[in-house]
Parts: sequence; structure tokens; C-alpha cells
Amino acid sequence: MSDSPEPTQDAGAPPAALPGRPIAPNDPVPGAKNIVLVMSGKGGVGKSTVAANLALALNRSGYRVGLLDADIYGPSVPTMLGITGQPMSDGQKIQPLQRFGVKLMSIGFLLEDNKAAVVWRGPMLQGAVVQFLKDVAWGELDYLLLDLPPGTGDVALTLSQQVRSSGAVMVTTPEEVALQDVYKAVSMNQKVGIPITGVIENQSYFICDGCDKKHFLFGEGGGQKIAEMAGAPLLGQLPLDPTVRQWGDAGTPVVQAAPQSSIAQAFQKIAEQLVERLAEANRSSAGAPTIDRSGGVNRHLPITR
Ligand SMILES: Nc1ncnc2c1ncn2[C@@H]1O[C@H](COP(=O)(O)OP(=O)(O)OP(=O)(O)O)[C@@H](O)[C@H]1O
Ligand SMILES: [Mg+2]
Ligand SMILES: [Zn+2]
Repeated sequence: MSDSPEPTQDAGAPPAALPGRPIAPNDPVPGAKNIVLVMSGKGGVGKSTVAANLALALNRSGYRVGLLDADIYGPSVPTMLGITGQPMSDGQKIQPLQRFGVKLMSIGFLLEDNKAAVVWRGPMLQGAVVQFLKDVAWGELDYLLLDLPPGTGDVALTLSQQVRSSGAVMVTTPEEVALQDVYKAVSMNQKVGIPITGVIENQSYFICDGCDKKHFLFGEGGGQKIAEMAGAPLLGQLPLDPTVRQWGDAGTPVVQAAPQSSIAQAFQKIAEQLVERLAEANRSSAGAPTIDRSGGVNRHLPITR
């Protein structure tokens, strides 16, 4: 697949009045109006799938979108977006790759052998994500989505200290075993002050081609429970749909590959709700003081560069 820049899709200019998050003087990505963490606490629930499809859905609505793969150990963006290649640097900033009009960065682009394991440890790992924010030429973006790794861990914590994100989208599947992990991630976000913008229940049901019924393979109501705990809306429920997996593996997320399909429309609707929720949050935080997240000039966070 090509890594050459493609023209961005011109689906009409985004509304000029799109409200953005408050941006402090030391913000690592001052050009990003919204930074959204796609996270879960639980592995394998569809974070990367949701992040990739939402990025494309937002792009198709005419917004300027970036997608940062914040999963250093298990990057999925190169496969799901069907892109490899070395990003160029001008000595100052790294140019993101671009696909379907979305700006992309992933550790996967920087590894010579994409099957090799990354052996970095904690501090380097945190440094890497923050560096991707700072050192990539993201330019002006309406939405920068971050595809977070599973777990509550270090990456979200570091991000909370280094950048004022707009909020987090929590992805969960309906079963109790997943919920236990997602509750922990919600609780951590609340502790570190990352607002939860909404909850997405993935793999909610399966529509059978034998009987046309919705089969609730993993139970019902899990997403709603997380939403209630988080005090955030359930933005949508996505079915288990084999085309999601097929298009993800093929490097063209279903929203791009089959935009008229009902699953693509479901993603598109969630993206619209996300836009509304973020705009609301930004309007209510406008005028609020911006918080210095540097830890103070005389304090040094344990970040390795
Ligand atoms: N709604 C869905 N229908 C069918 N397959 C899905 C759906 N959502 C995700 N998948 C598939 O499930 C697998 C795991 O999804 P994904 O990689 O997005 O999860 P993740 O939460 O990012 O995982 P990790 O914790 O490893 O980062 C992928 O193969 C993906 O294509
Ligand atoms: Mg993932
Ligand atoms: Zn059936």
C-alpha cells in the first residue's frame, strides 16, 4: 500500500465555530481542537476497530482528523488502515502518514520488522506516546483520536499529566468479565481527571442469517451499566459483524469500504453523537482556567525523551 500523501477528502469545510478544548501554553498538540482517548481497561474489546472507524466517520463528515496509535506493544493502525512506510522527518517534526485523508502515526511505522517485539519499558513507553503528540506535525485538526492499549496503566496516566484531552470514549463488551476491567478504567479516569465523554458497547449482539434474530451472545445491559457508573451517555451499541473483522484485516475499515452498510451507518451515528457531546463539553469549559500540566517548572516528571 502506498504511503504517499493523498488529498484529503473534501466533504465540505468543518463548521468554523466548532468549539475546541482549552489549550494551555505548554500543550503538546496546540493545533488539535479535540483530543479523544479511545480506551477500555479490557483487551480485545474493539478499541482499535472503534478508533479507526470513528476516525474515518469523522473524516467523511468533513472534519480534519488524526489517529495516533498509542499502543506501543501491539500497534493495530498499520494493519487496520492498510499502511506501512517510513514517515519523513524534516529534522524538527515527523510527518504523519496519511490514508483516506486521515493523518496517522504508529510505532509500527518506525519498526524495520513489523513482527519484531518492542522491548521498551515503562518510562520509554510513556515518553514515546508524548513524543508522538509533540514531535509529529499534526497541523490543524478538529479531532485527534488516540487508540490506547488495554489496561488502565501508565499511558493514560501520563497523558492525563501532559495533555488536556477532551475526554475518553470507553469501549466495552457486554459480559460481566469485561465490565470488571472497564469499571477500573472508569475509576482511574475519574481519579486523574479525564472526563468520560461516552461509552460504546461493542459486540452487543449478532444478527443471525439463519433466523434473522438478534442473538445476545455476551449478555445484555453491560454498556448501560458502564455508562451509569461513568455518568456518561451510551453512545451506541455495535453488533458483532463479520465484515468489521474482514475489512479491518484487509486494511480498509468498514466505514470506508462499505459506507452504506448498516454497521458503517452505526459507526457514523456514534461519530455524530461524539461530535455533539464534545461540543457541549467544550462550550461548558470555555472560560474555565487552563491547567498547567507540566507539573510546574521546578518539578520534573519521570519522562524519558
Ligand atoms: N463489532 C465487531 N464485529 C466483528 N469483529 C469485531 C468487532 N469489533 C472488533 N472486532 C474484531 O475483533 C478483533 C479485536 O478487535 P480490536 O483489535 O479492535 O480490539 P482492541 O480492543 O483494540 O484489542 P487490544 O486490546 O489488543 O488493543 C479484531 O479482529 C476486530 O476486527
Ligand atoms: Mg487495540
Ligand atoms: Zn439464529
